[in-house]
Amino acid sequence: MLQVDGLEGRVSVVTGASRGIGRAIAVALRENGSRVAAVDLEAPAHDGILGLTCDVTDPDSVDAAFAAVERELGTVSVLVVNAGIYPISPFEETSVELWRRTLDVNLTGGFLCCKRALPAMRSQGYGRIVTIGSSAGKAGGARSVAAYAASKAGLMTMTKSIANEYAAHGITANSLAPALIDTEMISGMKDLVSRIPVGRFGTPEEVGALVCFLASAHAGYITGEVTDINGGFLVD
Ligand SMILES: NC(=O)c1ccc[n+]([C@@H]2O[C@H](COP(=O)([O-])OP(=O)(O)OC[C@H]3O[C@@H](n4cnc5c(N)ncnc54)[C@H](O)[C@@H]3O)[C@@H](O)[C@H]2O)c1
Repeated sequence: MLQVDGLEGRVSVVTGASRGIGRAIAVALRENGSRVAAVDLEAPAHDGILGLTCDVTDPDSVDAAFAAVERELGTVSVLVVNAGIYPISPFEETSVELWRRTLDVNLTGGFLCCKRALPAMRSQGYGRIVTIGSSAGKAGGARSVAAYAASKAGLMTMTKSIANEYAAHGITANSLAPALIDTEMISGMKDLVSRIPVGRFGTPEEVGALVCFLASAHAGYITGEVTDINGGFLVD
C-alpha cells in the first residue's frame, strides 16, 4: 500500500464506492488515515468507512449525502468523483434516453458533487478533487461507447476548468484516464488483454494508490492534469 502524508484526519468522499475502483480508492484513503465516506446507489458497507446512499444524478440526494458526511465526519477536504456507467451501444442504436442517462451519471453527477463540495473547500482554503475519467474520453473507446466517451471527455475538461478557477484557493483538481482496470465493468472485455503492452489488466488498488498520491500533501503543485493509468494501452 502507498503511504502518503497529508491525509491523516482529513474527510474524504468517494462516489460509486460499493465495489470496483471506488471501493479500492475508499479503502486506500482510509489506510492513509483519512475519515472516509463511501456513497453509492445502495450504501456501501466497508470496515471503518461511513456508507451512505446517494444517487449522484439527483441534487437533493447529493446534498443530503454531503450534509450527513459533514454531520458525522466533518468538513470535506477530498472529493473523488468515481461513480459511472459504461453502456456499450452502437452509435445508430443509441437512444436519446441512453445518451442522456450516461451524461447524467458520468458528467452531471460529477458537476453536482463538485458544486456541493467546493464552497467548504474554498472556505477552508484547501481541497483535493480527483475525477475518474477514461482513456475513452481521449481516444473514443475500444468498443461502441460514444455517450460514455463524450461524458468522460466532458468530466475531464470540467475538472481542468475547476483547476483553473480554484487554484488560488488552495484547491487542486485532477483527473485520471484509466483503461482496462479489472472490475465488473470490463468483465466482457477479456479479449483486450493481448493489446495491453504490460501484459495484464490494471488493479483497482493501483488506481487507489494514484488517487491517494494526488489527494496527498505531496501533490499540491499538480493541478489541471489528466494522468493515464493504462499499462501502455493508450500512449498519447
Ligand atoms: N474498469 C475500467 O477499466 C475503467 C476504465 C476507465 C474508467 N473507469 C471508470 O472508473 C469508475 C469506476 O469504475 P468500475 O470499473 O469500478 O465500475 P463498477 O461498475 O464496478 O463501479 C461503478 C459504481 O458506480 C455506481 N453508480 C452508478 N450509477 C450511480 C449513481 N447514479 N449514483 C451513485 N453511484 C452510482 C455503481 O453502483 C457502482 O458501484 C467509473 O467512472 C468508470 O467509468 C473504469
